[in-house]
Amino acid sequence: MPVPHAPALFTFEFAADPYPAYAWLREYAPVHRTTLPSSVDAWLVTRYADARQALADSRLSKNPVHHSEQAHRSGRVGIPGERSADLMTHLLNIDPPDHTRLRRLVSKAFTPRRVAEFGPRVQQLTDRLIDSFAERGSADLIHEFAFPLPIYAICDLLGVPPEDQDDFRDWAGMMIRHGGGPRGGVARAVKRMRTYLAELIHRKRSELTAQPLPGEDLISGLIRASDHGEHLTENEAAAMAFILLFAGFETTVNLIGNGTYALLRNPEQRALLQESVQRGDTSLLATAVEELLRYDGPVELATWRFATTPLDIGGVAIPEGDPVLVVLAAADRDPDRFEGPDTLDLARRDNPHLGFGHGIHYCIGAPLARLEAQCALATLLTRLPDLHLAAAPDDLRWRGGLIMRGLRTLPVGFTPERGA
Ligand code: HEM
Repeated sequence: MPVPHAPALFTFEFAADPYPAYAWLREYAPVHRTTLPSSVDAWLVTRYADARQALADSRLSKNPVHHSEQAHRSGRVGIPGERSADLMTHLLNIDPPDHTRLRRLVSKAFTPRRVAEFGPRVQQLTDRLIDSFAERGSADLIHEFAFPLPIYAICDLLGVPPEDQDDFRDWAGMMIRHGGGPRGGVARAVKRMRTYLAELIHRKRSELTAQPLPGEDLISGLIRASDHGEHLTENEAAAMAFILLFAGFETTVNLIGNGTYALLRNPEQRALLQESVQRGDTSLLATAVEELLRYDGPVELATWRFATTPLDIGGVAIPEGDPVLVVLAAADRDPDRFEGPDTLDLARRDNPHLGFGHGIHYCIGAPLARLEAQCALATLLTRLPDLHLAAAPDDLRWRGGLIMRGLRTLPVGFTPERGA
């Protein structure tokens, strides 16, 4: 039988629904070399088994110096603006042994316990944001809810004083609006954030005494963290704070945005979740967030990897120096791993999705992302029980950009809450 034509990638239609194209690639070209919109050539890995293996393959380096084209110098690879802002030493750009050292230090400060203790604060932020539009009966859930919640949450956790948090909201807004267009604004926002964080770290370091303080913020925890007598330098702490913000922000916006959208488009599943959270039962909420990560996760492609040696992925020879992009969104819909992969099943139990990655770069913020998404979805469904889409799905726009997948806007309607 003739093989159908390869689908067009990275078009407008593709951004709205990339899943049919990924199904084609999994079937006919599971390890596929393509030219990206930035004109860099890269390999896309789309099957679950290959994807999982590639994410844990130490021959694939995260350090852009291994890229044969050195395209990172021109800003075509990596986070826009990070080169100029001297932030290259963060976790997603380095390999062992440096990665092991830095990750161990940050893990001492960014503990699951610190995140769990943050639960009441996330609930407070969630309620405050919903208060701001609940009496109106309509809202854009991206701009008014999914976007500000993670930025305020991570600022609070890091210890950015409340009076400075709106600056972060502005800088983050400049970064998130970037979708393949001019990069100047993004680079400026990254630079301002970096300068601010460096000053904050410097101030906190001089304020700190040698004793740990109860309830201290994450930046103080980062400065204090030590491993066999080793500490983070101020530069490393600034790069770490930056990557926590950068990696923890747009991803969580998209989990809340894509997740709410998927619920609104699957009314039976939404009803099941709504009934269970209204009863105060959180067991379905936990599997639901994992399923939303699998079904339409925030990170469409894992971040850049480069072959340090010629290697084989799924029977395809990858030359040394070539970039490899693992397509998490394609792997997580692979019928060889997931039953009924295109169906949203909030109670799915066998769900080892790759939405948070896999291997040594597995998302360090996963506990915080889960906390925020569970809180956001449960509170929305409880406080605004008749929440519905206020736009035709075809009219919704998805942000361009290679790595992340998320809606630009999510207009909704609901019965207004009566004022207290
Ligand atoms: C790494 C997804 C939220 C911090 C990753 C990776 C993925 C991911 C897929 C691995 C990338 C790769 O291997 O190329 C997500 C998703 C999130 C989320 C879907 C939200 C729904 C967060 C949050 C934080 C965070 C809230 C921090 C506050 C990080 C960091 C890394 C990372 C620092 C790099 C870890 C390393 O290289 O060792 N994340 N993330 N993420 N994430 Fe997240």
